[in-house]
Amino acid sequence: MHILDLVQNSIEAGASTVRLEIIEDREKDTLTIRVADNGRGMDAETKRRVLDPFVTTRTTRRVGLGLPLIDMSTKRCGGHLLITSAVGQGTVVEAEYRHSHLDRPPLGNVVETVKAIIVANPELDFHYVHRVDGAVFTVSTRSIVSELGDMPLSHPDVILWLHEFLSYNLANLYGGVQHENN
Ligand SMILES: Nc1ncnc2c1ncn2[C@@H]1O[C@H](COP(=O)(O)OP(=O)(O)O)[C@@H](O)[C@H]1O
Ligand SMILES: [Mg+2]
Repeated sequence: MHILDLVQNSIEAGASTVRLEIIEDREKDTLTIRVADNGRGMDAETKRRVLDPFVTTRTTRRVGLGLPLIDMSTKRCGGHLLITSAVGQGTVVEAEYRHSHLDRPPLGNVVETVKAIIVANPELDFHYVHRVDGAVFTVSTRSIVSELGDMPLSHPDVILWLHEFLSYNLANLYGGVQHENN
């Protein structure tokens, strides 16, 4: 849910390019989730206030909860939330957790998360990078679309294929072994 929240923030900020990185380093005992975009960025005032749950620039609901909730969950797990942003250039949000922390939220179903982002945003230049210790899996919407030729991303067969493709590569990334907490 946090990952979807971050990517949604990037899209709402008008980003055309979004890069999601998930980095699991069991030696350093860290899980890092980084979302980088080329959206409108935050001014200093917004950036300063953004971890206050009563701050949002949305008009539909007066409370923004995405970033404050992620901030609290990282701190509960020996980690931190870092925001780097420049107006007109983009934003990087990095959430770090202690990987083995008992309260760390599980990564959840990354296949469904990434699949949902790709299928729901066919025009977005989305990049997904997932590192587990030494191994890396990376895919982008563009690379998938170029594989597909004329088939639209929304085609049911494509969605099924994407599911298999992501599942297979993630299983490989974990060396075929599912670790606790994942
Ligand atoms: N990637 C981003 N780029 C630009 N502004 C952002 C980004 N992420 C968050 N913000 C700003 O921070 C505010 C708070 O975000 P968030 O806590 O997720 O609440 P919400 O999305 O519900 O407003 C947003 O309304 C927006 O102004
Ligand atoms: Mg949000």
